Amino acid sequence: AHQWRGVIREYADRLPVGPEDRIITLGEGGTPLVPAPALSELIDGDVRLKVEGMNPTGSFKDRGMTMAMTAAVADGARAVVCASTGNTSASAAAYAARAGLTCAVLVPRGNIAMGKLSQAIAHGAEIIQVDGNFDGCLDVARKLAEAYPVFLVNSVNPSRIEGQKTGAFEVVDALGDAPDYHVLPVGNAGNITAYWRGYQEYARPWSPEGGDDDVEPLGPRATRTPTMWGFQAAGSAPIVAGHPIDEPDTVATAIRIGNPASWEQAEAARDDSGGLIEAVPDEEILAAHRWLSARESVFVEPASAAGVAGLLRKHAAGEVPSGSRVVITVTGHGLKDPDWAVKNAAEAGAEPTELPQDVETVARHLGL
Ligand code: F0G
Repeated sequence: AHQWRGVIREYADRLPVGPEDRIITLGEGGTPLVPAPALSELIDGDVRLKVEGMNPTGSFKDRGMTMAMTAAVADGARAVVCASTGNTSASAAAYAARAGLTCAVLVPRGNIAMGKLSQAIAHGAEIIQVDGNFDGCLDVARKLAEAYPVFLVNSVNPSRIEGQKTGAFEVVDALGDAPDYHVLPVGNAGNITAYWRGYQEYARPWSPEGGDDDVEPLGPRATRTPTMWGFQAAGSAPIVAGHPIDEPDTVATAIRIGNPASWEQAEAARDDSGGLIEAVPDEEILAAHRWLSARESVFVEPASAAGVAGLLRKHAAGEVPSGSRVVITVTGHGLKDPDWAVKNAAEAGAEPTELPQDVETVARHLGL
């Protein structure tokens, strides 16, 4: 049986990795594109979920981290650093441990989900909790990497975007062509940048930058590119507002970002694809989170539901043509931040029931 070898080996001819490079991989990518029957019925189209929680550390960050850590090793780095709302730090910690590198992560104190923090701790990262938000952490991480011998593995590092573009490759490989719409949450705006790059590269002949002129370019694998729909949380929607947000806020801590690093690239993805970047309020993110677990059987963290919240909102506004083929990236696993499911259950009166250890009592409770 075929064993998936991680995104660098699976897409070796489309990624800037040298033949001598030591590849740092945990087998990331190859994630399922799961049909979403309830969403498909609602929009009278075909909706599929790219379930990125199935990556080794439970988020899409692993696609970029295999590339960034491979580049760090090729560069002779001894230490790496990143700023993070949680998932990047979990991924960096795991891949750095595999590479034998020291890893420092800067996270906003009090605003990172416990699952993610526990991963960074378990994989042995040096964790620095900053009294500030993600944007401040990224500022410090960038300055550290400029002034000291430490390698930056945030998505401002181009190798991160290169790795993450493989998400688009996998969608096309699974569907046979690009969908009509690709929908995803937007935080620091690296992922929308990466997907758009991947879709574009797959839709035209492609040869590596600085490649040999005698080598035939690779043929296109898609006939078209999708319309990109990105969604920010309403309290953290700088791209929608058109200016940085000083104190971003949202229950979706992963995308609690006021000044995204890939702002311009995200706007280019939006405009060049004829798409949009809009805001979704927290209540709708949490409603989409419930929809995903209860109706599509896919458990995600709140930020990951922002794309679904966006699709529901566009549908309600009558702006999703029937027959549309839609792919939504759900970016991180529900176990990263499980509190919300429990809080939601309490609100819905769906809390667990305590009963004695007795068959008849249990049967009566279940109405059997
Ligand atoms: N969804 C999840 C679960 C995330 O962790 C992130 C970003 C996003 C969506 C947004 O993706 O930044 O590429 O636009 N998390 C980063 C982190 C910021 O530090 O883990 P983006």
